[in-house]
Amino acid sequence: MSEKMWAGRFKKQLDSDVNDFNSSIRVDCRMYRSDIGGSIAHAAMLAKQGIIGKDDAEKIIEGLTSILSDLDSGALQFDMTAEDIHMFVEAELTKRIGDTGKKLHTARSRNDQVALDIRLHLRDEADEVITLLKELIKVIITKAEQYKASVMPGYTHLQRAQPITFGHHLMAYAQMFLRDIGRMEDAKARMNFSPLGSCALAGTTYPTDRMAVANALNMSGICENSLDGVSDRDFAVELANAAALIMMHLSRFSEEIILWSSWEFKFIELDDAYSTGSSIMPQKKNPDIAELVRGKTGRVYGNLVTLLTMLKGLPLAYNKDMQEDKEAIFDSLDTLKQCISIFAPMLDTMTVIEKNMLEAAAKGFINATDVADYLTKKGVPFRTAYKISGTLVAYCIDNNTVLEKLSLAEFKQYSDVFEDDIYDAINLENCTFRRNSQGGTAVESVEAQIKSVKEKL
Ligand code: ARG
Repeated sequence: MSEKMWAGRFKKQLDSDVNDFNSSIRVDCRMYRSDIGGSIAHAAMLAKQGIIGKDDAEKIIEGLTSILSDLDSGALQFDMTAEDIHMFVEAELTKRIGDTGKKLHTARSRNDQVALDIRLHLRDEADEVITLLKELIKVIITKAEQYKASVMPGYTHLQRAQPITFGHHLMAYAQMFLRDIGRMEDAKARMNFSPLGSCALAGTTYPTDRMAVANALNMSGICENSLDGVSDRDFAVELANAAALIMMHLSRFSEEIILWSSWEFKFIELDDAYSTGSSIMPQKKNPDIAELVRGKTGRVYGNLVTLLTMLKGLPLAYNKDMQEDKEAIFDSLDTLKQCISIFAPMLDTMTVIEKNMLEAAAKGFINATDVADYLTKKGVPFRTAYKISGTLVAYCIDNNTVLEKLSLAEFKQYSDVFEDDIYDAINLENCTFRRNSQGGTAVESVEAQIKSVKEKL
C-alpha cells in the first residue's frame, strides 16, 4: 500500500483491512479509458485557460497517453491496493513525469472526476447494448420472414385463443426490443452532460472553461448546478431500469422458448449447441440458456433496487455510498450483454416445427370467433352469433370433434344462416390470413411490420 495522496492530515497509515474495504479499484479499473480521456480534456482546458503552463499540459497528456497504451497492451498492471482508478492513474502519472503530474488535479475533485468517468463509460456501454439489440432484432426479422405464413395457436390465459402466424408472434418481440433501443438512447441523451468543473461540490475559483471539456469529450453540455453535478446518479438508475426492462422482455421470450421446446408443445427444437443434457436422464434435452436468461433477470432487477435504495437517503452532495453505484450498474450491463449475445444465436439456430404448430392450432376451437364473425357478416347480431358459436363448440366437445368437421346439417341445427361457405370461413389458414387489419396477423401485415422495423433499424 503506497502513501495516500490525502495523507497530509493524517498521523497514521490506513489499516490494511480498511484499505481493502474502502478501495474500489477492483470494480472501477474498467473505467480507465474514460478516466484518462477525461483527464486529457481537463489538462488541455487548464492550459488553454492559462491555469497551468502549455509545456506542463503537454507533458501530462503525453504521460497519460503512454499510461493508456500500456494499460491497453497489458504492459502496465493495475495496483489492486490503490484506492480507486483515479488515484492509480494520477500516481502512475507522477511516477512517470515527476512533479508536473501533481498539477493535473488543479480545479477538479475526485467527486466531479468520478461522475464524469461513469457517464463516459456508461455512454459507451449503452452503445454496445444498442448494437447487440439491433443484431437480435435482425435475427428475429429473418425468422419472421421465414415463418410469416406458419399457422400456430395464439394464446390468452395460456389457452388457445385465435390462430396467428409464427412470424407475427416473433415480430411482437421485435417491437419490444425496438422500444428498448429507444430507452437506451433516451438514457444516453440525458447522461451526456459533463459534471467536470463542479469540483468537490461548490465549483472553483479558477477561470475554467467547462464547455471546452464537454466539447472535447463529445458531450451535449454541462451540468448546470455543481451540487447536482457531483450528486446525480439518475443516469445510472435510468440505464439500470432500461436494462431491467430488456431482461424482462428476454425473460418472457425465454419462457415461451422453454414452453415451446417441451414435449407438450414441441413447436421448436433448440440446436444441440444451445441446449444441454441431464446427468441421469438420457432422453433429456434442456433449454438451459433460456432458463438462465429468465433466472438472471432477477439480479438485474435487484441492481435497480440497489441503486434506488443507495441513493434515497443521501444528503447532497457526494457521499461514499455512491461508490456502490458501479458494481450494481456494471453487473446489470455485463449480465444484459451476455444474455443478448447468447440469445440471438440460440434463436437463429432453433428448428421450427410448423406441423406441430398447425396441429395444435387445429385442436383448440380457435376458429370459434370466426364462426361468430361469419354469422354477424350475414346479419345475425354479434351477441347472438357468439352464443350460437359457443353452443356449437359445446356440441363438438360432447361429440369429440372440431368445428370444421361438422356437417352442414349439424351447423344448420343451430342456425339456418349457415351455408357451404362456412367451411371456407373457418379454415385455419383463411382465419389467419384474413386478419389483415393494421398490425394484425395476416401475412401482408407481418410483411409490413418487417419493413417498418427494418426502416427504423
Ligand atoms: N472511488 C470513489 C467513487 O467511486 C471516487 C470518488 C471519491 N471521492 C471522495 N471524496 N472520496 O465514488
